[in-house]
Amino acid sequence: MKIALGCDHIVTDTKMNVSKYLKEQGHEVIDVGTYDFTRTHYPIYGKKVGEEIVNGNADIGICICGTGVGITNAANKVPGIRAALVKDIVTVKYAREQLNANVLGLGGRIVGELLIYDLIDAFINTKYKPLEQNEQLIKKISQLENEKHTNNNHLFDELLEKWENGFYQSH
Ligand code: RB5
Repeated sequence: MKIALGCDHIVTDTKMNVSKYLKEQGHEVIDVGTYDFTRTHYPIYGKKVGEEIVNGNADIGICICGTGVGITNAANKVPGIRAALVKDIVTVKYAREQLNANVLGLGGRIVGELLIYDLIDAFINTKYKPLEQNEQLIKKISQLENEKHTNNNHLFDELLEKWENGFYQSH
């Protein structure tokens, strides 16, 4: 797999270990930085990871900052990116199977490196299930990227109507 990998200066050492781990597993790593411990800003690298995927250079991405919150948020602002900040295997599997997440977000100062490797393995090895309900949910999330839907109070009308008519109680 081609994997885009980015971090901020707080966790460059963790990122370097992750890069080595991925290469040992036979993956190609596109390291978008940062490359040292000089203070920088995580949005730069979240954006870069996302862009490598939507531009077709990478299959998936991994972004790491201290907590993972900032860089995962930044990656999620790139249209087409579904980044999931995780620290447990159950959430990783959900993110891949149902959300078709294409970026794994990690808090390098929160999660230990051994667990990080397990989370990465689970992210890589879990496949998306293209069920109708998953496709619909992903489509709805993608629609939120579209400016014309940002302030559209009717975007979820069809779903709300189904809910009121009892559709979800019987499914
Ligand atoms: C440091 O910039 C720290 O705020 C960052 O690594 C991260 O934890 C943000 O979510």
